[in-house]
Amino acid sequence: MANPTLKVDIPVPASKNSKAFTAALKVCLAAAAFDVPLQYSTAPSQTHVTLESPRDHHKQLIEANAIVRYFSRIGAKPWGRAGEEALKDYALIEYEESVLSSVLEKSADEALTLAESVIAKAGLGTEPPSPAEIIIFSTIYDIASTAKVDTHPALSAWFAKVVKTTWAKEGIEKVAVSTSVKPIKKSKGGPAPVVETAPREMTQKLREGIEMKVPKEGEKILPIPGQKNILITSALPYVNNVPHLGNIIGSVLSADAYARYCKARNHNTLFICGTDEYGTATETKALEEGCTPQELCDKYNILHAGIYQWFDIGFDYFGRTTTEEQTAIAQDIFLNLKKHGFLAEESVTQLYCEKHDGFLADRFVEGTCPKCGYDDARGDQCDKCGQLLDPAELINPRCKIDNHTPVLRDSLHTFLELDKLQPEIEAWSKKAAEEGQWSKNGRIITESWLKEGLKRRCITRDLKWGTPVPLPGYEKKVLYVWFDACIGYVSITANYTKDWEKWWKAGSDVKLYQFMGKDNVPFHTVVFPGSQLGTREGEWTMLHHLSTTEYLQYEGGKFSKSRGVGVFGNNAQDTGIPPSVWRYYLLSSRPETGDTQFVWKDFVTKNNSELLANLGNFVNRLIKFVNAKYAGVIPDYTKSMADPAFLPYKDAINALLLTFNEEMENVHIRAGLEKVMLISGEGNRFLQDNKLDNRLFNDHPEKAAAVVGYGLNLIYLLSSIVYPFMPATALSICEQLNAPLRTIPDTWAPEDLLPGHVIGKAAYLFSNIDEKKGEEWRDKYGGKQEVAAADDKKKEKKKGKKAAKQSKDKAEEPTTAEVEVRPTA
Ligand code: MF3
Ligand code: ZN
Repeated sequence: MANPTLKVDIPVPASKNSKAFTAALKVCLAAAAFDVPLQYSTAPSQTHVTLESPRDHHKQLIEANAIVRYFSRIGAKPWGRAGEEALKDYALIEYEESVLSSVLEKSADEALTLAESVIAKAGLGTEPPSPAEIIIFSTIYDIASTAKVDTHPALSAWFAKVVKTTWAKEGIEKVAVSTSVKPIKKSKGGPAPVVETAPREMTQKLREGIEMKVPKEGEKILPIPGQKNILITSALPYVNNVPHLGNIIGSVLSADAYARYCKARNHNTLFICGTDEYGTATETKALEEGCTPQELCDKYNILHAGIYQWFDIGFDYFGRTTTEEQTAIAQDIFLNLKKHGFLAEESVTQLYCEKHDGFLADRFVEGTCPKCGYDDARGDQCDKCGQLLDPAELINPRCKIDNHTPVLRDSLHTFLELDKLQPEIEAWSKKAAEEGQWSKNGRIITESWLKEGLKRRCITRDLKWGTPVPLPGYEKKVLYVWFDACIGYVSITANYTKDWEKWWKAGSDVKLYQFMGKDNVPFHTVVFPGSQLGTREGEWTMLHHLSTTEYLQYEGGKFSKSRGVGVFGNNAQDTGIPPSVWRYYLLSSRPETGDTQFVWKDFVTKNNSELLANLGNFVNRLIKFVNAKYAGVIPDYTKSMADPAFLPYKDAINALLLTFNEEMENVHIRAGLEKVMLISGEGNRFLQDNKLDNRLFNDHPEKAAAVVGYGLNLIYLLSSIVYPFMPATALSICEQLNAPLRTIPDTWAPEDLLPGHVIGKAAYLFSNIDEKKGEEWRDKYGGKQEVAAADDKKKEKKKGKKAAKQSKDKAEEPTTAEVEVRPTA
């Protein structure tokens, strides 16, 4: 058997001049140079790389240099030197650890001078490179771009040579995608950037105990007995496509807003997600892209992680479903179901290709349509007449892989007997929907399934790319993705921590909140809970709150990658509009009760007249004023504090804050965000009504001080309630206030930033977007709307028929189409 793949978790640093980036670069370069296949995941809350090697008794390494050296021994292209040469290399690594990196922390110039002298002597440049070469290269990667050729000739020449090697190119690209940090471009000389030093004494005077708790580095988040422990999942995105805005608001972004809210309330919270990688859809896509399913998944896992990273989605862990933990846990659930009599076997007749020796999924058969004679119909549907087909009906069927004529053959499959579990599922879901306040569409979909009566569902498939079925005779079969996928949440947690059972076998000690698009509902409210119940392990953590969304449409139509309609993946980034604005727009148009629209014109309006005119204006006006008039020092605002004119504002704010918290506890994210903007509006009204200006400052200093104290404290409150929706904006506010991220209180009073506290410099939170820009983007990402609309109508018709077919027949493989066409309930 081949060696099991090594797993690495890569941190997601903010910039190139961070330790996390250097560590990630070292590992990616070493993997490329020594040819070590890796299974990459991103670990946003981490600053080091974690390597787990199943080959060596699950050895774990977290020190990047140690990982580089390990790779240099075990790779397919090992460095393979011993004796004196190895010792010399080791000495160089020690030098990097003890001298170079610490000098670098203090001065880039000194580090460059040091590196120049070492490189001049070291004789680097072997192929494959030595571990020390990779390590030193990574350490100075960021500053090397500022090295001048005349003063650092050896370094410059070496650097220029290394960046051209295949391993460096490959490693740098890998690290760029997985960390979303752009690689550097070597400039010709040029001065090093000037680092600004803070001249002002930044005294902090804050009320104690308001800081948001952040888990310590390397510490795993685990449930704490007796506390409110919240486990949040967002639907695991398919690995075979690039997510669009609709996918993003549908699950990951909504879940992130809620997770950040919980964290800002200091609830013990774990937020996990990962890519959904198994199934025919992946096999097909791999075939299209001419790579193996594994390679495809590796590529898209990183692509997804990078996109979510850009949107500031703060997963505690972003994993994937193709892991050994998935196999172990899914097989365990399967065998328990079997043990307790909830699995049945039945023979199913299917098309089989004798040439490549495999059963054919519907989409792998083509032939002549029996209805209209079109000779290129697919097994499940004819593209010409739109009729839904049974693959066995096709005239002259042929295998899509090799054109061979398939034959009918029987195949043994296992069915999950949901019918037997119906009473239990029904009782559980009634109670859970009530207690957990499931969203309405989630309830309705679940009820309709139960009302129709649950049927046994086939949970095995004749495929290669999936979790192996742990039964003799099933060697060429795998578990059906929709049985397998939800188990991904559990196995991804198991990849995050070996104590995963504390989260998943915790009964009611953990409240599970799940976010998804409505098409995913039955698998989370019927199939997965049914599997949990059927294992007869009583302690499973089961779904508490279900949050589902309808669809986000794009300018009146649908997102479509192939027609170039809609904003996909990196498009958002390409506009130069910061993630917070995107998040605000998407969360404020979250399709909670019906479909909503992405409209460029609204996007621009929301930025200009809500974010900029309301929130941005309030924050900027006051912070600038305090910097200009009080040299940034909060005056003693306590003397006029009791001014009765202030009271109505405080009451109004607290009334809004109360409903804000209620809405958010119930996961009404849109309504929560509305309250935030209303509170900010109160702030503007407060400044306006109290006429904070030069006159007030000169003529009524006590009142001016009170207005300032009140207002700044309100801004600090805003930072916390803005945080779930726009974390980068919250951070910027806190930076301007020179205060840490804080918790969201139950009630507010102006007493957190104290007199004498020194605030930071003002910075714009938002900037105006020209309406013309909006139109430009609309043209650019609009596709051909008329054609799109017509096409959509056709598709809509087909979809309706398809839905009808699927509900009466066996479970279908999810389709891969680029729009929201997923398995219908
Ligand atoms: N991959 C599915 C989709 O994008 C969602 C799967 S959620 C899971 O629609 F829990 F089942 F994995
Ligand atoms: Zn074939």
